[in-house]
Amino acid sequence: MKYIVIFSGSPSALSRTEQMLYYLGRRAEQQGFAVKHLSVKDVEAEVLLSANFNHDKIKAIATELEAADGVIIGSPVYKASYSGVLKALFDLLPPDILKDTYVLPVMTGGSTSHLLALEYALKPLIATVKGHNLKGLYFQDSDIDKTADKLIVNENLRQRTERQLAYFLGKIQGHQDEPIKVGHRAKP
Ligand SMILES: Cc1cc2nc3c(=O)[nH]c(=O)nc-3n(C[C@H](O)[C@H](O)[C@H](O)COP(=O)(O)O)c2cc1C
Repeated sequence: MKYIVIFSGSPSALSRTEQMLYYLGRRAEQQGFAVKHLSVKDVEAEVLLSANFNHDKIKAIATELEAADGVIIGSPVYKASYSGVLKALFDLLPPDILKDTYVLPVMTGGSTSHLLALEYALKPLIATVKGHNLKGLYFQDSDIDKTADKLIVNENLRQRTERQLAYFLGKIQGHQDEPIKVGHRAKP
């Protein structure tokens, strides 16, 4: 069974980003994928502020990301970029942690003003750690109803989301082209 790690960069207690990531995770599970959710909230602030590269939780996150066949990374837009805490955590991960791994970037923002943060901020961060970026998804707060079962209120956007998720899952399974995993790391 293919294994997907879904990583949330939102520090919020009642996070829209996280709800969106759980939605994507549920849809992937329904299609036969094993899913694990991780979050910046799994790591104590002290570990991040002291740049404790060797902390067990940092190593555990690195191990999960290495084992993943595909990764979804989500962040809220904070001040026109991804969250600062996501950067603080990524700074502690090995420089090639997402090598040969397909990554679906996801952002939520208050409006479309910073839609391009996906392109100029989150995708370059993922590329820095050698992740293979897919197109990505951007949701405005008004697109998301946390109380609704289907979560995404705009039907057109919901369908686009499903298509992108299907493309990502297909890439992991090697449907669209040859898998990019080249075997320098054994996958379970
Ligand atoms: C500190 C802070 C900064 C924000 N900056 C922006 C911004 O620059 N552009 C934007 O579109 N939304 C901005 N927002 C709105 C959030 O991106 C939006 O509400 C998002 O859905 C929150 O996700 P979360 O619930 O996972 O934290 C900001 C919100 C906060 C709390």
